Amino acid sequence: MPAFSAVLAANKQNAPKAIRPVAVLVGGTSGCGRGVAEVLAKYTEGNAHIVLVGRSEEAANEIIASLPKPVDGAKYEFVKCDVSSMRNVGIVSRDLASRLDKINYLVLSPGILSLAGRRPTEDGVDYKARVAIHYYSRFKFARDLAPLLEKASAAGEPARVLTILDSWMGGPSGVRPDDMKLEKDYSVRNAALVATTYNDGAVAALAKRYPTVSFIHGHPGVVNTNINRDLPFGIKQLTGLLGSLISTSVTTCGENMVYSLFDPKIPTGAHYRTSKGDAQTSKPNLSNADVEKIWQHSTEICDGK
Ligand SMILES: NC(=O)c1ccc[n+]([C@@H]2O[C@H](COP(=O)([O-])OP(=O)(O)OC[C@H]3O[C@@H](n4cnc5c(N)ncnc54)[C@H](OP(=O)(O)O)[C@@H]3O)[C@@H](O)[C@H]2O)c1
Repeated sequence: MPAFSAVLAANKQNAPKAIRPVAVLVGGTSGCGRGVAEVLAKYTEGNAHIVLVGRSEEAANEIIASLPKPVDGAKYEFVKCDVSSMRNVGIVSRDLASRLDKINYLVLSPGILSLAGRRPTEDGVDYKARVAIHYYSRFKFARDLAPLLEKASAAGEPARVLTILDSWMGGPSGVRPDDMKLEKDYSVRNAALVATTYNDGAVAALAKRYPTVSFIHGHPGVVNTNINRDLPFGIKQLTGLLGSLISTSVTTCGENMVYSLFDPKIPTGAHYRTSKGDAQTSKPNLSNADVEKIWQHSTEICDGK
C-alpha cells in the first residue's frame, strides 16, 4: 500500500505533460468525482479539457470556478444529464462522440444512497436503490465512448476508464441468470451486490473487447461526500457524524483515484483497485460465462431490447 506521500509524488511524476488530456467525469459535480476533477486540473495546470456530467449546473459552475484557469484552447464544461435514463445517456454519449476527438480519462461515479425499495425506470431496471445509476449508466457511457478512448490509445496517449464503486464486494453470487434485472429477489443489499458485481463483470468484458484501453474498478474508501443527502432526517445526521469521524476528504480520494488513472503499469486490461491504489486480491473472480452473461444483459438493457 503506497503511503499518501508516495501517491502524491507518483501523481506528480506520472501526470501527462506533453498532451492536453480530455477527461469526462460522470458524477463529477460532487464527492469522489469532484475530487478527481480537482486533482486532474491541478496536475494538468489548466491544460486539460474537463467535462463534468451530472444534474446540478450550480454545483458544476462552483467547481469549474475553483479550478486553475484553463490555458489557451483548454476548457472546462458542464453537460446536464439525468443518468437514470439510458435514453439520456445515449443522447449525451452521441453529443460527446460527435464533438470530441478523443477521451483520455472517463471517470464514472454517479451515485445515490437510498433505503427505498425497487423503483423501475423507463428501462425496466431499478432506479431508487442504485442499479441504473451505479451500473447501467456507467456501462453505457463506457461502451458507447470506448471508440474515443481507442483513438487516444492509438495516438500513444493514456486511455483509461475508472468506475468508482465498491471493488471489494461483488462476485459470482451477484449473477442471477434467471433474475438479471433483480425483479424477483430485490433488497437494498442485493441491489448493491448486483451493481458491484456487474461493474466487475463489465470491466472484464469491456477490457476484452477494447484491448488497447485500461478499465479499472476502484473503491474510494469512506469519503466525506454528499452521498447521504437523500437519507431520512436523523439517519442522515447520524451517518454524517460517523462518516466525518472516519472519512477522508474528497481531495484525498481524488489523489488516490488519480493514482490508478496515471499508473503507467496498467495501460490496458481489467483492473480492480483498493482505495489506496493496490490491486484487489481478496475476492472471488467471475467466470468467463458470468462475464459474458453480464455483457449480454447489459447491452440488451442499454440498447432498449
Ligand atoms: N462516499 C463514500 O464513502 C463511498 C464509499 C463507497 C462507495 N461510494 C460510491 O462512490 C460513488 C460516488 O459517491 P459520492 O460519495 O461521490 O457521492 P456524491 O457526493 O453524492 O456524488 C454523487 C454524484 O452522482 C451524481 N448523480 C446522482 N444521481 C444522478 C443522476 N440521476 N443523474 C446524474 N448524476 C447523478 C451527482 O450529481 P448531480 O447531483 O449533479 O446529479 C453527484 O455528482 C457512488 O457510487 C457511491 O456509492 C462512495
